[in-house]
Amino acid sequence: MVDQRVPDGTTEPGRLRTRDVLGAPVMPPAAAAAAVNRLRAGLARLVRAPAPPPVRILEGLLGGLDQAALVAMCRVGIPEHLHGRTGIEALAVELGVSPDRLRRLLRYAATRGWVRIDRRGRVRPTPLIEFLRRGHPSGWRDWVEFMSGPEVARALGQLGAGLAADGDPFETGNGAPFFAWMADHPERHAAFDAAMAAGGRMHGLVLARALDWSGSRRVCDVGGGTGALLATLLAGNPHLEGVLLELPEVVARAERVPGLEVQGGDAFASVPGGCDTYLLVNVLHDWGDQEAIRLLTNIAAVLPDGPAARVVVVEGRVHQRPRDDIATRTDLLMLGLTPGGHERTPAQFDALGRAAGLRRWRTLRLASGDDAHVFVGRVVTR
Ligand SMILES: C[S@@+](CC[C@H](N)C(=O)[O-])C[C@H]1O[C@@H](n2cnc3c(N)ncnc32)[C@H](O)[C@@H]1O
Repeated sequence: MVDQRVPDGTTEPGRLRTRDVLGAPVMPPAAAAAAVNRLRAGLARLVRAPAPPPVRILEGLLGGLDQAALVAMCRVGIPEHLHGRTGIEALAVELGVSPDRLRRLLRYAATRGWVRIDRRGRVRPTPLIEFLRRGHPSGWRDWVEFMSGPEVARALGQLGAGLAADGDPFETGNGAPFFAWMADHPERHAAFDAAMAAGGRMHGLVLARALDWSGSRRVCDVGGGTGALLATLLAGNPHLEGVLLELPEVVARAERVPGLEVQGGDAFASVPGGCDTYLLVNVLHDWGDQEAIRLLTNIAAVLPDGPAARVVVVEGRVHQRPRDDIATRTDLLMLGLTPGGHERTPAQFDALGRAAGLRRWRTLRLASGDDAHVFVGRVVTR
């Protein structure tokens, strides 16, 4: 059983549901998720095309207001207080804010599809607002807390510095590279870990469905954050044991659940042996190719022989032609936050794996919209 947060912020034992994590009653087929993403990207192009350049410049420059508005909504407690259909004045009284100013924020939110406002001016939440409530089992509110941190703003304010071959906007803006800076700022580090755990829960659920776990016994999540992925995966597969390898300061905050062993360490130095499945989820995109190959090489060194042995790398997909999707955004985010990290195409993962002596078997589309690149065994060299 995994500790699952419930809406009032307490915890109770239970299993995460697809509805709580993806917002859909059942896990959508990965092909359907990919088709929806393609369609949305195409529609976005259509919506932008007729706008004249000044409008598109302004829309670009004012795009940051989306983040500012989401953060403001969370700071005043709209997700916690907006439940059914309600008058904006009544909501303003509950929140202790100005009704006119709240109306302006909510009108903006309505244009983004975050809330609905009816003809009588009453507002009601959408599922997105539920996902942003403190204590929602998905934990997506934690992404708001992480992304609204001043260090993120300072890094993204220096994005241009990332265009130099060895540029690192995070270091330019904050004085140290991401993980070194985080180690010196435990509160912000914990906020980052909490945000990662939201993705971890989602991937735990998605991978539990997408891969066959019947032949696996012991799974190592390399750079697995506070263990949310493994806790979710183990909850649905009681025959599995999990090993979490993380930085020591992250391990100190890790979930403690039966069957989950936590190890503080440095994956660039070594990776624990004795597992049949090794996961790298949203880890390689933090690094340039040399570092990524080093991580894969360390895993290849301890990968056992046999049919159950595999390395599963989960990341967003870079398409040949640029696409308006999450992976294009996280690619730019990596440019801003990491020293050389980036998203990759399946062919690039193939090349990384080969350089580390691993053979890619196949790439699976996931219901989350990401890819799982499954490497099985080592490349035979003559
Ligand atoms: C982008 S996060 C991804 C976390 C998690 N896999 C997920 O998908 O939510 C990258 C993780 O790599 C961990 N990490 C960074 N350097 C590491 C190292 N040298 N050894 C082990 N883990 C490391 C970080 O602490 C962080 O949790």
